[in-house]
Amino acid sequence: MTAAASVAQHFSSALSSRLIALRRDIHQNPELAFHESETAARLVAALRELGVDDVRVVAKTGVIARVPGRNRSAPVVAVRGDIDALPIQEATGLPFASQVPGVMHACGHDVHATWAVAAAALLLAHPAAGDVLVVLQPAEETGKGALSILETGALDNVAAIFGGHADRRFAVGQVVADDGPLAASADMFDIEFIGGGAHGARPHEARDPIVALASVVTALQTIVARRLNPATPGVVSVGSIHAGTAPNVIPERAQLSGTVRAVDASSRELMLNEVKRISEAVASGLGVEARVTLDLGTPPIVNPPDATAWARTAASTILGAENVVPLGFLNMAGEDFAHYMERVPGCFLRIGAREPNGPVIPAHAPKFYAAEESIFVGAAVLAECARVASQALSVSG
Ligand code: NI
Repeated sequence: MTAAASVAQHFSSALSSRLIALRRDIHQNPELAFHESETAARLVAALRELGVDDVRVVAKTGVIARVPGRNRSAPVVAVRGDIDALPIQEATGLPFASQVPGVMHACGHDVHATWAVAAAALLLAHPAAGDVLVVLQPAEETGKGALSILETGALDNVAAIFGGHADRRFAVGQVVADDGPLAASADMFDIEFIGGGAHGARPHEARDPIVALASVVTALQTIVARRLNPATPGVVSVGSIHAGTAPNVIPERAQLSGTVRAVDASSRELMLNEVKRISEAVASGLGVEARVTLDLGTPPIVNPPDATAWARTAASTILGAENVVPLGFLNMAGEDFAHYMERVPGCFLRIGAREPNGPVIPAHAPKFYAAEESIFVGAAVLAECARVASQALSVSG
């Protein structure tokens, strides 16, 4: 029997069919960031049916359940599942495919929400040392949901937090709990070039913002190539440029925007500072003003050693050490769980979501879905992370 199948066996048939129905219901009725009100209502109802009494709606469409520990005054830990869908037309052909045109759970958050509810049920049956908050978070895809939960103050006294992402690059039953960088920062920049317009035939009367923009696009490539330590991954990409209205007119202004991805705080700061410095200096050399606006998104996720050791212990207990596997590559996408980890130590895991012999399907693709059995693996591993961390914190506290 596979590790995933043996984990699933530990769920009563009543509980598993309830969880599968909940997941299918959420998958069929996807809702976009901060519009997850029906999803939140379903999750509240599911938690109450499972016997979790302390459940409240926070941050508009988020839900937090408090599962009592054996000692109510012991340190509190949290488990997080995100709940929002994406503006993509589903093409999975699943019997429970989205009924909402142009909206689907293409990132597995239907399963993340379900495994968090399931973790609450497991923790109710076998409590942790202290209370556990189960956080059902809205709006991960826009990078704003974790902040909205933090702003409510609901996690102010939390001593550790755990979360995971379904991932079809790994078979169901495999879990990644690596320490170090796991997801990149996702920051945006916008640059406005202010020059002087003139006739295209008389460039000497202009201060050409298009030439400045073109030079800056090229110069920005030197940040990763010449400024960043080659041992550290990083990305600077320009994604949009806009200028001009006619072939014989040098415009007054030009504009570009792009994104910076980094895997640690110092390279993030270096790259963002260089975007500003190089753009201003190159444009200024050409007689054009560059106004740089940085829009800070999610920070990188860097799993710290202590909390990662708890997560590895938990995953090995549930699945066997041979199923705790390395990521094996660096993920340059962002994940807003990083906002929690700026304030609370924790660990973010990748939870295998591909059926044995099933295809690898990238997240955010119209055919993406997470294997059903990953519900049980995610729930069991996250509940055990909470128990291990809670126990360790109670002893040390
Ligand atoms: Ni996601």
